[in-house]
Amino acid sequence: MKRAVYPGSFDPMTLGHLDIIRRASEMFDELIVAVLNNNAKSPLFSVEERVKILQEATSDIPNIRIDSFSGLLIDYMKKNDLHVAVRGLRAITDFEYELQMAQTNAELSGGAVDTVFLVTGLEYSYLSSSTVKEIAAFGGDISKMVPDFVGKLLTEKLG
Ligand code: PNS
Repeated sequence: MKRAVYPGSFDPMTLGHLDIIRRASEMFDELIVAVLNNNAKSPLFSVEERVKILQEATSDIPNIRIDSFSGLLIDYMKKNDLHVAVRGLRAITDFEYELQMAQTNAELSGGAVDTVFLVTGLEYSYLSSSTVKEIAAFGGDISKMVPDFVGKLLTEKLG
């Protein structure tokens, strides 16, 4: 059985993330979306809220499981017998950081972990969770960036 993990902060999940999730779920028998529990980053949404958002947004995808993790990704992957991580690439500016992370994970895992990159759809290539939060904080239109229910949650949080 081909399994993969799509790790990230997902604070909150955007339509760009959902695009990667849908496409990756068609490539693997099981896709685990793993939310990083990292309070050092002072997330807007708690890890429980981020997991709930992902569960709701992906409820129509059968081969998906939403989980959370703390610490190193490779430790989570080892514990769950996972060998492939999926990451989205939006633009060339993502590449350097993603390459470094992929190589670090390959090195730290002794070659047990591979990273598969999916190029984000053009319509989402400008999108990031940080941008969405900033636009929402100033009352801008985020309807093309996140599912409606996430937009409502953002409005509730940010006023
Ligand atoms: O959505 P993000 O913030 O770009 O996701 C980054 C994430 C969560 C995939 C990355 O920060 C991560 O894997 N963190 C866990 C700690 C770790 O394993 N670090 C070593 C890899 S550089």
